[in-house]
Amino acid sequence: MAEHPAYPVGLRLTGRRVVVIGGGQVAQRRLPALIAAGASITLVSPSATPSVEAMADAGELTWERRRYTEGDLAEAWYVLIATGDPEANARASAEAERHRIWCVRSDNAEEATAWTPATGHSEGVTVAVLTARAEGRDPRHTAAIRDAVVEGLRDGTLVAPHHRTRTPGVALVGGGPGDPDLITVRGRRLLAEADVVIADRLGPRDLLAELPPHVEVIDAAKIPYGRFMAQEAINNALIEHAKQGKSVVRLKGGDPYVFGRGMEELQALAEAGIPCTVVPGISSSISVPSAAGIPVTHRGVAHEFTVVSGHVAPDDERSLVDWPALARLTGTLVILMGVDKIGRIAEALVANGKSPDTPVALIQEGTTAAQRRVDATLATVAETVRTREVKPPTVIVIGEVVKVGPEANA
Ligand SMILES: C[S@@+](CC[C@H](N)C(=O)[O-])C[C@H]1O[C@@H](n2cnc3c(N)ncnc32)[C@H](O)[C@@H]1O
Repeated sequence: MAEHPAYPVGLRLTGRRVVVIGGGQVAQRRLPALIAAGASITLVSPSATPSVEAMADAGELTWERRRYTEGDLAEAWYVLIATGDPEANARASAEAERHRIWCVRSDNAEEATAWTPATGHSEGVTVAVLTARAEGRDPRHTAAIRDAVVEGLRDGTLVAPHHRTRTPGVALVGGGPGDPDLITVRGRRLLAEADVVIADRLGPRDLLAELPPHVEVIDAAKIPYGRFMAQEAINNALIEHAKQGKSVVRLKGGDPYVFGRGMEELQALAEAGIPCTVVPGISSSISVPSAAGIPVTHRGVAHEFTVVSGHVAPDDERSLVDWPALARLTGTLVILMGVDKIGRIAEALVANGKSPDTPVALIQEGTTAAQRRVDATLATVAETVRTREVKPPTVIVIGEVVKVGPEANA
């Protein structure tokens, strides 16, 4: 008789008894999804892996430390058999069959009455891939299909627009430091669904080239501002496009709320009654040092890091930064927008007690193909910036962490 294909279904297991027999690697892989589904799980097994044991300790399942015996499946809705003992597996499987309980068997797909699909999740949807028939079953192939679908949805190469929950209004998306791989999954998806993208110079500009032709891409720096301030003109552009019913992404470098004026944009949109969602991004303040081999903290070296804007000099009356206090800190200082004023910043730090020998690293265009790192000290940094022609965008790291990685002085 020809084998019919398996019938796919989603089991709603919340509060329902599920019995898992065997506490090894298979159970370890399958249990998190059963726990996430809210199943009331009983594990029957004389031993368990440390991870499975931790799930029992956390109260996520009830562990009966013994071998399977007839009757263990009473009242169960679903059973997973995964012991290393084929004879026990066969007995448990026969009990499940007698009681009409759907049963997955790790050792014998032919004998099982249910199969576990390769699953992945993307924005509230579960993607589940099943081989149709036992014959020619190829779990790696199903897993590869699952990966391709989930990855495609996450990175926007597979576009499945939302119809009911499409994000209206504006999304302020933190694009990360520049490498297109360093945007969040959510940011990438919203970008793939946008009608209009208003982008900064910093951030993952390579992603803009991948957008479909109907998407209008606007360079924020080129919005004419006439009688407005540049920021006001950007706010107005966001509002105008959103009012036309378009899905607008404001793509920003790093994180929208780290020297990114994200809150100003959100406030302007709120005043105009436009819904706005904010997607955090990987800030250059941490990721750019990391890309250059510098940890902003390191055990025994720095127990704190402070991120400071260097766009106004320490003696400028507009400065809100307490530079004498920063000079007393023993941890790491990370300065953004500080290339122009680094000479005066270094002077202020030394004048307030920091050693002139304190190591400094300047990382220009971090995480991009043009990344470069230049090392100096507080005493030499102003001169180094001039002679080595360090330009924005650059993250400046001051402190002993600069010396800990193998790339120091490279
Ligand atoms: C206006 S701030 C925006 C910071 C951004 N919101 C963040 O969280 O990374 C711009 C400054 O961030 C730093 N920056 C951003 N991206 C960078 C990169 N890829 N390489 C070096 N510095 C970067 C530079 O100091 C630049 O002057």
